Amino acid sequence: MSSVLFVCLGNICRSPVVEAVARAEFARAGLNVDVDSAGTGDYHVGQVADKRAIASAAKYGYDVTAHRARQVEAADFVRYDRILAMDQSNRRDLAVVCPAAHIERLQLFLPFAGIEAPTEVPDPYFGGAAGFDHVVELARRGIGGLIARMRSGA
Ligand code: 4NP
Repeated sequence: MSSVLFVCLGNICRSPVVEAVARAEFARAGLNVDVDSAGTGDYHVGQVADKRAIASAAKYGYDVTAHRARQVEAADFVRYDRILAMDQSNRRDLAVVCPAAHIERLQLFLPFAGIEAPTEVPDPYFGGAAGFDHVVELARRGIGGLIARMRSGA
């Protein structure tokens, strides 16, 4: 896997945090992987990440301040080896627009990373700060799983 796109709904909470954790941890692991994130929706295109996401990520040592939200586009399904959705709703929305030839690139993030439970990264947008900390913790577990998967040659 040399490129991966992480996808949530707004691209301001979950996928930017997972992208930041991936960028830092892949580099630390010496893995050369092209990472990015995007949203299925266009509500927040061009905006910075949610300030609660920036704060939780910073607590764990990850920097999300340079992020600007973008929407998934057709070229993403060709460019990225893997397109990893945060939840089933994101995965279903992606499946509608993903070309049939590339459908195997589309996977649910945590199960693809070898995490059996939970299978989804819950949307923290309408909740409190604890939900954002939980996103960082799941991001760390998931990226750890992806690194193990890549080291095993999968
Ligand atoms: P995200 O969170 O998908 O993790 O970026 C959300 C951000 C915005 C909205 C919903 C979820 N929204 O409804 O605007």
